[in-house]
Amino acid sequence: MLSTILNIGYLIGALAFIVGLRQLSSPDTARKGNIKAAIGMGLSIIITLIYPFEGAHGNYLWIAGGMIIGGIIGWLAAKKVEMTAMPQLVSIFNGLGGACAVVLVLIELYLFYNNGVEIGLGPLAIMIFTLWIGAIAFTGSILAYLKLDGKVRDKHVTFKGHNILNMILLIGTVAFGGYLVGIGLSGTLTIAIVFTIVALIYGFSFVGPIGGADMPVVISLLNSFTGLSAAAAGLIYNNMIMIVGGILVGASGTILTVLMCKAMNRSLLNVIIGGWGGNSASANGDTGDQVVKEISISDAAIQLFYSQSVMIVPGYGLAVAQAQKVCKELDDMLEANGVEVRYAIHPVAGRMPGHMNVLLAEADVPYPKLLDLEEANDALPNTDIVVVVGANDVVNPAAYDDPGSPIYGMPVLNVWEAKHTIVLKRSMSTGYAGIQNPLFFNDNNKMLFGDAKDSIQKLVSEVKNL
Ligand code: TAP
Repeated sequence: MLSTILNIGYLIGALAFIVGLRQLSSPDTARKGNIKAAIGMGLSIIITLIYPFEGAHGNYLWIAGGMIIGGIIGWLAAKKVEMTAMPQLVSIFNGLGGACAVVLVLIELYLFYNNGVEIGLGPLAIMIFTLWIGAIAFTGSILAYLKLDGKVRDKHVTFKGHNILNMILLIGTVAFGGYLVGIGLSGTLTIAIVFTIVALIYGFSFVGPIGGADMPVVISLLNSFTGLSAAAAGLIYNNMIMIVGGILVGASGTILTVLMCKAMNRSLLNVIIGGWGGNSASANGDTGDQVVKEISISDAAIQLFYSQSVMIVPGYGLAVAQAQKVCKELDDMLEANGVEVRYAIHPVAGRMPGHMNVLLAEADVPYPKLLDLEEANDALPNTDIVVVVGANDVVNPAAYDDPGSPIYGMPVLNVWEAKHTIVLKRSMSTGYAGIQNPLFFNDNNKMLFGDAKDSIQKLVSEVKNL
């Protein structure tokens, strides 16, 4: 009877995950979705604590201690994190999910080898798989975090022949795992720990050559790995909610990976083995002796005020400057003067999927004003002025005309097809991919240097006086 009630509770928890996930797909409902999924998770944890399975009882003090310490750290981290550092936090949480699966399996293997209880080929294979994928997700995510946070540069963790080493590690770890399963009870915890260490090294090495504009893909791929390791750990414990939760994370991570690959015009294999790093001059951010033309606030305001159509291209710099609200203010003022204002949203602008959509929704920019990559590229030739707000890689023409560029082949916003472009950024610094942008030197482009929020605020005051 008790287990029936508890299983119904698990079902409610699983439904909350699914509804929550569904609501996360729109900025309007995302907050509610997050709360529902969190309630589902809370309910699932409570049920797991009272579920009549061996092991939990008598260990409540340990469990409560872990939950309190983990809860406080997680709460403080989520509270403190800047919106722009969210991908780093997601990477760390991802990695910890993988580490958790590794620890759980090592404990189970310790009991298995020491108690000598035959558990069958299937369950042992699941344990070894969980150990493998959890270890890769752990170290891979830690390196992804270090790269995203700028603590290591992409090129510093890769070398000639790295892909061959990765292939050897992949085949080697799969063969080693197969061997561990094959020898069953003749194995030892020491051999399992050696296997874990090799898988941890592989995780680090796997993410090493991936970087630049491929980072969004690898982050969602690692996310799906963590989901898979949680689902596999759920199979070990025969825990329904772990299986459902893990599958949801694994499936949504996989779908996101496929979507990201499509958006970046890259195959997954290409991302994984392609590495990163072009050899052209633009790949090191060198501007040579080229000069850019600057525009003053008042000239920019006049141009915008007397134009018919304006396309705003938000990028990572908009998020850094928190310029979304002033951007909407400028938009309202131009619209009041009969200027059509729209926004071009590149799928990987910013640092996380949907980053620009979230920021613009926060500023109450109406959704129909947001054009996706294809719609925007169709509209750009008929646009008077493009205002690039802290975007760089997503408007870089080198993606089309420089085969030596690391972003060669990535679809970008063809802003140079508009009549004029004005780029708002603080300096000539490169964007995430670390490459210079030839757009800045175009004849019809002007640079408006300064913090994006500050520059737009000044534009707003100037437009008010016209
Ligand atoms: P980026 O290419 O990273 O360029 C951002 C630009 O913003 C920089 O050149 C910077 O120049 C400027 N900036 C920074 N702070 C600013 C401020 N306060 N005011 C004005 N400008 C500021 O951005 P993007 O065009 O959005 O492209 C995104 C890149 O991140 C892509 O390479 C993408 O692959 C990668 N990435 C994306 C994701 C996802 S899922 N979206 C995840 C990981 C990586 P200054 O320093 O000169 O101001």
